[in-house]
Amino acid sequence: MKIFIDSANIADIRAAYDMGAISGVTTNPSIISRENRKFDDIIADVTEIMVDGPIFAEVLSLDAEGMIEEGKKLAAINKNIVVKIPMIPEGLKAVKALSSLGINVCVTVIFSAPQAILAANAGARYVAPFVGRLDDIGENGLDLAQEIRDIFDAQGIDTMIVAASVRHPVHVVELAKMGVDIATMPFKVIMQMAKNPNTEGAVKKFLEDWEKVPK
Ligand code: G3P
Repeated sequence: MKIFIDSANIADIRAAYDMGAISGVTTNPSIISRENRKFDDIIADVTEIMVDGPIFAEVLSLDAEGMIEEGKKLAAINKNIVVKIPMIPEGLKAVKALSSLGINVCVTVIFSAPQAILAANAGARYVAPFVGRLDDIGENGLDLAQEIRDIFDAQGIDTMIVAASVRHPVHVVELAKMGVDIATMPFKVIMQMAKNPNTEGAVKKFLEDWEKVPK
């Protein structure tokens, strides 16, 4: 399973990329808004770092015509851009139009298997179920990811599942076990995956013991 970073923070994206942890970057309007920078400047910086993987950028229009226009502009910025379209009926029209032009589209804010089936049929290259936000309302987000995985496997659908709203390392492990293609997560979760107190303790002890070796 590939790991993407769900962030528009350049320092975090750089750090995760340099660790070899990530092979893509996802953003959404909320993530962009946290940086207090112009969208164009953020995307320009991200494209300099993520030269070999997809960069997801979301449209803001709510009508198909507006989404198509925005999607074409986003796709023209860089060959790695994937256009994120929200899972609404107008969005599906835009998915069909943009994908028929050869533009890679991710259908986002997916909260049910029927939505994922429709998105795949419309031509989505990726679907993004929001795992953590289902947990937030007392449902099981991992169950949705598994359901979509099972359906896509049963039907031979090659649309990739990019699990979003991933909140902690257990989500990541469970998503990997079920064969989800990609999990996108904040830098914090990537660091939680990397760190373990036993590892840190072992490294510290090795250095302490090395001091006892005659020099
Ligand atoms: O990028 C969409 C998704 O990953 C947002 O996650 O934690 O805001 O639900 P979260």
